[in-house]
Amino acid sequence: MADSKASPQKKIPFYARRFVAGSAASDAVAVASSLKQQQIGSTLDLLGENLTDRDRILGAAASYLDLLDSMQKASVPANISIKLTMLGLDLDASLCFDLTSQVAARADTYGGRVCLDMEGTEYTERTLAMYERLSAIYRSPEIVLQAYLHRTQEDIGRVLATGGRMRLCKGAYKESPAVALQQMTAIRQNYLSLLETLLNKGKRICIATHDDILIAEAESLIKGRNPAGLHDKIPAERYEFQMLYGLRRSTWSQLVNRGHNFTVYVPYGVDWQAYYKRRLAERKENVFFILRNLFRS
Ligand code: FDA
Repeated sequence: MADSKASPQKKIPFYARRFVAGSAASDAVAVASSLKQQQIGSTLDLLGENLTDRDRILGAAASYLDLLDSMQKASVPANISIKLTMLGLDLDASLCFDLTSQVAARADTYGGRVCLDMEGTEYTERTLAMYERLSAIYRSPEIVLQAYLHRTQEDIGRVLATGGRMRLCKGAYKESPAVALQQMTAIRQNYLSLLETLLNKGKRICIATHDDILIAEAESLIKGRNPAGLHDKIPAERYEFQMLYGLRRSTWSQLVNRGHNFTVYVPYGVDWQAYYKRRLAERKENVFFILRNLFRS
């Protein structure tokens, strides 16, 4: 996949501002500082994916290194999320490994966390393999697994074998029935079954969802009140809830007040379009919101 040569739009349009913290790293760091004051964690994501231009790839890696320095300077935890296709996975796997290693090494020096976002299924195996290599060397790497994929049941075994630090989400890409569950009920069921294993065996499990049903069931698992009563309460340092910037804000403080660690995924940058399209696809009301506001203005 080739990246566009067109110069990216510098301003974030009003309809995307709901989901994107701003165009500059300083915007995202300011959001992280404000969240920290509310006892909420953050993971910062420089938007962009599927880069194949070497200079842009090197530029993205340099931006991530600068971001980690800025976060350290601002006294916010150096926690970031990255997409491997922004760091060269489509162009050259060894370049991608070198650049991601530099980012992980820098995050390690600050005691931070580097989460490898999971992209479409053509990248699943390569992302997992990269996580395995990186986590053998660095402390900071984490990985996302997607509950809608049939293969995730096996993949969690690999992640647990290499540290067990991961984020579980439903999955945001359009995938075929051959590789992914299609019905929400089945996806939820699989999410919960995976989560139960992860909470019991993982070192740090990030429960990434805005879904009230999943949150309630997850809280029940954490309290050790699963129907069979098979496990004790999961200690707070072994898990956290996570949501995306701009979504379900009123529940953020509720989760914190109920004693859970909670983190917001904060995207920023001028390449907001692909991320934004995935947020639109998740909920048709978002499209109506844009149309309503376009007609008003
Ligand atoms: P669901 O879609 O059922 O939403 C539950 C409720 O949340 C909705 O009823 C609505 O109220 C609100 N909501 C959810 N999405 C909304 C939207 N777009 N606009 C408005 N309201 C919305 N995916 C992936 O494939 N790879 C990845 O690396 C990641 N990373 C990631 C990190 C974090 C921190 C989160 C929270 C999510 C991801 N995802 C992801 C996205 C994830 O796979 C999934 O697509 C979304 O979280 C939506 O699924 P939910 O479980 O939130 O439920």
